[in-house]
Amino acid sequence: MPDEARNRALELKKAIEAFHRHALRRLVRTLRAADPGKELLLRAVEDPAVYAMFLMHGIIKQDLLARVAAVLEEVRPYMRSHGGDVELVKLEGEVVYVRLLGACAGCSLSVQTLRDGVEEAIKARIPEIRRVEVAEDGAVAGFIPLNEVGGLPQSGWLEGPPITELADGRPVRFQEGGHDVLLVRLGPKIMAYRNRCPHMGMPLDQGPVDGSVLMCPWHGFRYDLSTGECLTAPHVHLEPFPVRVEGRRVWVRPN
Ligand code: FES
Repeated sequence: MPDEARNRALELKKAIEAFHRHALRRLVRTLRAADPGKELLLRAVEDPAVYAMFLMHGIIKQDLLARVAAVLEEVRPYMRSHGGDVELVKLEGEVVYVRLLGACAGCSLSVQTLRDGVEEAIKARIPEIRRVEVAEDGAVAGFIPLNEVGGLPQSGWLEGPPITELADGRPVRFQEGGHDVLLVRLGPKIMAYRNRCPHMGMPLDQGPVDGSVLMCPWHGFRYDLSTGECLTAPHVHLEPFPVRVEGRRVWVRPN
């Protein structure tokens, strides 16, 4: 399509979206004016299509923790290119606590530089966050070589199933110590996510899988298991956990 025609089409699309956003906001305002309307609105938002549309137009906001996790996924390749990694530890009010991991040997960037980079990325996308702190929990409060991370259980890692129990593309539920984890092997890659659909917090492990796409069995949100990205609602993301294989077993560190 020639550039001019494409630009016109994009402008038209934007104008239609702006009109929809305006109309939806007015509709929500009207419904919220009275209790029966509020109730109907809550019921309507349970529909994944309505939820996705409200999310897309900024009428409802995604869970803050999931948004932070999504930003960390974006900066992870940069961290890894410097021999490091980042994990989300917790969110307390407007402060995000992260754990910095990785092989520091030969890395030209300091922990402070990396922390600042993570903070900048998070604050740019999530203005509600005011600060990023590096978690102070002993062995992991800084940059340490992965091969020097002593006893895994002492460092918060949970021993999962043997690698042989993970059939390619078939998610497996792993529960331990109050944590509910969804493990999946996609070729050579193993992913671990909180077994919780960001839509309404229901477990995902019984959902049908097509290739690398898992469908939530409750209301049909679809997720790309290779990235955790939601294909139904833009900006929604599964919460990833660090995962590794040691001694033919899968180990997971839930936050
Ligand atoms: S789509 Fe509603 S809980 Fe998953």
